[in-house]
Parts: sequence; structure tokens; C-alpha cells
Amino acid sequence: MLGIVVSPGAPGRERLGQLEEPSRREDQLLVKTLALGVCGTDREILQGRYGWPPPGRDWLVLGHESLGRVAVAPEGADFAVGDLVAGIVRRADPDPCVCCIRGEFDMCRNNGYRERGIKELDGYGAEWVTLEPEFAVKVDPSLGSLGVLTEPTSVVAKAWERIDRIKHRACPPLARALITGAGPIGLLAALLGVQRGLEVHILDRVREGPKPELAQLLGASYHSGTVADACQAADPDVVLECTGVPELVVDAVRVTPPATVACLLGVSSRGRALNADVGTLNNDFVLGNDVVFGSVNANRRHFAAAADALAAAEPEWLARLITRRVSLAEWRQALGKRDSEIKTVIDFTLDEQ
Ligand code: BGC
Repeated sequence: MLGIVVSPGAPGRERLGQLEEPSRREDQLLVKTLALGVCGTDREILQGRYGWPPPGRDWLVLGHESLGRVAVAPEGADFAVGDLVAGIVRRADPDPCVCCIRGEFDMCRNNGYRERGIKELDGYGAEWVTLEPEFAVKVDPSLGSLGVLTEPTSVVAKAWERIDRIKHRACPPLARALITGAGPIGLLAALLGVQRGLEVHILDRVREGPKPELAQLLGASYHSGTVADACQAADPDVVLECTGVPELVVDAVRVTPPATVACLLGVSSRGRALNADVGTLNNDFVLGNDVVFGSVNANRRHFAAAADALAAAEPEWLARLITRRVSLAEWRQALGKRDSEIKTVIDFTLDEQ
């Protein structure tokens, strides 16, 4: 079978390789891969700046945003042949930390976790994969290929869960959200914000095309000026920073109204210094009763919430998030980013047509 093979730390050695078909253990699902979403993490791995191969070898099968169809299911499992599934990314530390023991491996305390397609475990970017039922999440059949959005949605489902915990019985109550960045994470965060009845504002530098249109279709307000201007208009109780752009990160925690929660979801490119007066920043937090927290990854509960959120969304709206589909043979093209793009997907079914 074919799979996307990368050598973390050694850019230029990535290839579409012939791999042995996985041998399924009796307690595992055998899954035929239908689609694979790509994101900034995959691009970082390709550039040799992130990622870890499994112990004892120097290569890794890429891919963590998966959609597949169950081909074989273990007896007694809650899965049937034909079910659409998305694979959970992270696995607990084999020597589990206090959070991993509780199934909250997304909050791993000692970095001993592993992640499929990212850290020490082969990913979902191969024609066939095996998956333990407890790490498979059913995707509503009506979603079809849109189920590939489950993993990025799980990341924002987790973020909203943590925001809810912080805002539980807090004053001001949660009513208005500002989201910086109208990429897939920003737009999916906006979707979940609208689904929970909030007034949602989205800020992005792009002024035309699918991003403002998708915001409008969602009933969210779209801004393309500064964070300060967007805050003036939105008066947010929470900011979800989804770009990782240092200037926006600083603004998201600095120019927001007092008692705002800032949830940081974007990963920044390293090595670009930004001058900041940390004392003033500290005073903004302290004197503003602000909460700033980072959030990454998702556990089973968040994947389940993501599957529900996607099933409740307008399929036409979700379909517009996927701005490019390429075949497995053209996988390399998927990993180059174009400015106008939202989500690019490697569609394994295109090769079969
Ligand atoms: C994935 C997360 C993962 C993170 C860091 C992200 O792209 O969505 O599941 O934890 O990268 O490895």
C-alpha cells in the first residue's frame, strides 16, 4: 500500500512510499483511509522543524486529521463494517502521568504522550490503517467526506470546554466572542461559538473571498482592521487567538477589555523576536483580572463533541471550508500553502476514480 513517509528532522526525504499493509490485532479496527486533512503541524514536520519518528527508525507515516471507513471490526465492538470514523491523535504516556491515567491525555504533564503522525507513532496518511476502537470516533454518515474536519473541530471543542470551565458563574457571563484568524481553526471555533448561542466576531486581514462570506453565512460579524478596533466593536468576554502571529497574540491579551479570557490556539513560527514591555503586559493581566491560557490537542470527549457539532452544522457551510482536494499521488501539492486557502485535504478516493 502507499503511504506518505517523512523523516522528522531531515527535510527533503519525504516521499510517497510503498509500505507493508498493517497487520490488524484482533482487538483493532482495520480502516480504509478516505481522506486526510493537512495543517501547519504537517508543514512543520516536512520542513524538519517538528515531529519524532517511532523509536528505532528514522521515518514516520505522516497525517493526523483522518477520515476512514471501517473494513474489519473486532467482535463485540461498537463499530460495524462501513462506519465512517476519525482517529484520535494522542495516546497516553506508556508510563502514564496523573492526567493520562484519567484519559485526559490531551493534558499530559510530562510530555511522554505519543501522537499519530506527529510523535513516535505512525499517522493516518496511508491507504490502510489499524485503530483501537477506543481511539476511533464515529462520524455521522450524512457528513460523508466532511468528516475529515473532526480532528480540527475537536481542538476547538476542547478550547470551548475549557473556556466554559473558566467562565462558569463568572462575571461577566459568556455572551460575546472575538476570534482572530479565519483559517480552519478560527472558522470552526466560530461555528461552535454560534452553536452555543454567542455573538461571534471574526478578525482576519483578508477582506474578500470565502472567509468573510463564511463568517456572514454563520451570522458572525467580520472585521479586517486591528484587534483594538475589533474589540471596540465586539466588547468580547473571550478571545480565541487562532493565528499564532506574535503581534496578534500580544494584542489579544493586551487590548481586550478587563476580565476577558484569552485562549491561545495558534502555534507561532519560532525565531522571530518581538519587543514587548512585559511589566506593562503583566499589569494589564493583573489589573484587568484577565485569564490567558493555551490549548492544544483533544481527548475522546472532545472528539465526540466535535462529531456532534459537525453533524449539527450546515453541510454546505462545512463544504466551503475545504478549499482544495488533491489526490494521494499529488500529496506534495497539498502541503504548500496558498493565501486564499482554508483547508486542504488529500482525498484518497480520487486516485481510485
Ligand atoms: C494537532 C494536535 C497536536 C499538536 C501538537 C496539532 O496540529 O492538531 O493534535 O497535539 O499539533 O503536536
